[in-house]
Amino acid sequence: MHLPEKTKPFRIRSFIRRQGRITQGQQQALAYHWDKYCLNPTKDYDFAKVFGRNAPLFIEIGFGTGDCLAKIAAENPDHDYIGIEVHRPGVGHLLMLLEQQGLTNVRIYCHDALDILEHKIPDHSLSGVHLFFPDPWPKTRHHKRRIVRTEFVELLNKKLKTNGYFHAATDWQNYAENMLKILSSVTGIINTSPDGSYCDRPEYRPLTRFEQRGIRLGHGVWDLIFKKI
Ligand SMILES: C[S@@+](CC[C@H](N)C(=O)[O-])C[C@H]1O[C@@H](n2cnc3c(N)ncnc32)[C@H](O)[C@@H]1O
Repeated sequence: MHLPEKTKPFRIRSFIRRQGRITQGQQQALAYHWDKYCLNPTKDYDFAKVFGRNAPLFIEIGFGTGDCLAKIAAENPDHDYIGIEVHRPGVGHLLMLLEQQGLTNVRIYCHDALDILEHKIPDHSLSGVHLFFPDPWPKTRHHKRRIVRTEFVELLNKKLKTNGYFHAATDWQNYAENMLKILSSVTGIINTSPDGSYCDRPEYRPLTRFEQRGIRLGHGVWDLIFKKI
């Protein structure tokens, strides 16, 4: 049944909007570089036109400060990247990095990644999706806020090309186990780990800020990489 917009069930968000501390550099980057790199979530884009070429397209969801995304993009100039993050200071930080490094293969949505994936990304268009250290929502009553749910993985599966991959990493064991269960239950994607569980961190994934904080606190790290067949 098609529900009119008003009566559509409310979707639980995987984030809480917080302004947080913003540096002068981030503020300036938002003011000066927004138009150059940020995409409008209400518009439809032909990404080949946006980047001016046809290159493999990757998405990073929840890039935080964007250090990891900028590093991967710099090391892979033949790939194009779309970063999606709701936290404006983080977007400002990535804008600074893109401008400082002169990177031309990254664009940004400052918006809920689920909305963008569902409405703005064509099916079978992505070569890869990165989700590094999503908010773990450790309390049981908050697990419903975790971004990795069956519907999310099914949506990703629709957006990936054949042989495209989904790479998630977390430092929260219970979330890792939960992700493994959910990912393994969705048909059309297969685990790339030889023993059907977790992978070693691939060389292309640098340590992220959130991960380094977790490591200082003694947390483990789990990488999961599933491929669309
Ligand atoms: C725990 S942080 C990790 C940041 C970064 N990946 C790292 O490892 O340092 C998770 C990030 O995901 C963002 N986030 C959570 N849900 C999101 C969503 N639905 N769309 C876009 N960003 C989201 C949050 O704002 C936050 O910056």
